[in-house]
Amino acid sequence: MSFYCEYKNLVEMSRKGEAMTQPTTKIPISAIVLNEEIYPRKGIDPKRVGIFAENIRDGFKFEPIEVEPDPDRPGMYRLLDGAHRWSAYKTTGVTEVEAVIKNLDGNDPLLYAAQKAIGPRQLTEDETRETARRAYTRNSSLSSAAIGKAIGRSRQAVDSYIADLRAVTQMELDINIFRMNRLGIPQDRIANRLGAKQVLIHNHLLKMPVLANSINADLYRGFTVSQVAEKHNWTEPLVWSLALADKKDLQRFKELGWGLRTWDQWEWNDCDKSFGDDWPGRIPAQLIAHILFYFSKLNDLILDPMAGGGVTPDTCLALGRRCWAFDMADRPETRPEIEPYIWTLPAAQKLASSPVNQLSWPVSSKEKADLIIFDPPYFDKKAADYDTKSISALQRQEYLECLEAFFALLKLNVKKTTRLAFINADWRDFQGRPAAEESGQGSILIDVYLRMLNKTGWQHTHIIQAPMSAQRFSAVVVSAMQKKRILGVTSRYVIILKQP
Ligand SMILES: C[S@@+](CC[C@H](N)C(=O)[O-])C[C@H]1O[C@@H](n2cnc3c(N)ncnc32)[C@H](O)[C@@H]1O
Repeated sequence: MSFYCEYKNLVEMSRKGEAMTQPTTKIPISAIVLNEEIYPRKGIDPKRVGIFAENIRDGFKFEPIEVEPDPDRPGMYRLLDGAHRWSAYKTTGVTEVEAVIKNLDGNDPLLYAAQKAIGPRQLTEDETRETARRAYTRNSSLSSAAIGKAIGRSRQAVDSYIADLRAVTQMELDINIFRMNRLGIPQDRIANRLGAKQVLIHNHLLKMPVLANSINADLYRGFTVSQVAEKHNWTEPLVWSLALADKKDLQRFKELGWGLRTWDQWEWNDCDKSFGDDWPGRIPAQLIAHILFYFSKLNDLILDPMAGGGVTPDTCLALGRRCWAFDMADRPETRPEIEPYIWTLPAAQKLASSPVNQLSWPVSSKEKADLIIFDPPYFDKKAADYDTKSISALQRQEYLECLEAFFALLKLNVKKTTRLAFINADWRDFQGRPAAEESGQGSILIDVYLRMLNKTGWQHTHIIQAPMSAQRFSAVVVSAMQKKRILGVTSRYVIILKQP
């Protein structure tokens, strides 16, 4: 179709008033952006823009362009249809255009834009294929039929466009299901977390032995865990969970090369980077492994209510424990096994007068944890790195009340034999003062937590020293501290508690 015919069609449509059926708004041209992520064509055709600009100068009226509010930039709009008209308006110096503001109600803007492009000037075969692939990459739950409908192709054609992408998605889904299943997360919660039907999870689980076979075969051939992880795109902890499957705890420690501490001082200079993500306040996997070794058994259920970078679930995989992990940070792509949950707790006084059933617990399962590993933010340390809803954003008193309420909440949701491993550090309000001038006011030392724990029905059996690494301080900072006689904090404790 020639530019002239195309233009004539548009003018005729306007004349018939078809485009007027949708309300339009005048929008400054500078508030409209062409976002390549949702633009189905390879680029703007300057020839076409030139013809449209000439038409505009001649006084012809085009159909209004279509935009949607930009989700990332309030007050701005993203183009859905009319990129060439928009460019022509800019060329001619027009400052405001008539636009239809669409609300796509969660539908994919790329596919909507592609559908609009089916009209007078079709997408090329290349653009159609790319649009299908981009739409699927953005949302792998889209069916071929839905994509095909938008881009004007059959379901089979779309299947062939995206076959390789779909295979990768299937493999990623398999690996996620495998990992969550190995951590003992019930099928209904796996389904819910991965946005899949429970029957689909069930069917995927049937494939798991085959999945494990290929990993085991490579391990048997003598490849290392990290080589196998890289080859199959698995995480190392997941490969360890197979590599150590029939081993006892002591053998597991040996193969992981972590060395077992026999006394109650656990110190490491660094984290094993293959376990947990780079996360503010990350603790070494070796520390979690020691808690698991001394205070749990193979296949026990471990609960981590504030799991952060996921070092607890990762270590549980290697040591053959199940693990339910929660955190306010929701990372469905990389950490589906950490279920999103924000602990919002009443202050301790309110708690005392509240009926028990007002407290919320993330899951309704009958099964209770054997061990809880609780590593909350150490008051406002790292507060700037966590979300504003984090308990680290609370004032001192509120933070303490909230933790007390949490210890009481834990008590209501455990069994008689459940142990708690509480990890925390001394928090001193030294604010650059020499040690001898610190008043101690406003500090939270570890005995404060101990009193709260005892008050809420937890009795401590061990206080283990597990210092934070001092190596992350630069020589310049250390020297300045020494000159001013500032006494820093690296002490950190693992308090083990049981119920009387
Ligand atoms: C010290 S970090 C845990 C680090 C983790 N053990 C690791 O090694 O990666 C504390 C975590 O508590 C989470 N958190 C803070 N307040 C929370 C709340 N009210 N509900 C849920 N998670 C919360 C933060 O998002 C953060 O990931």
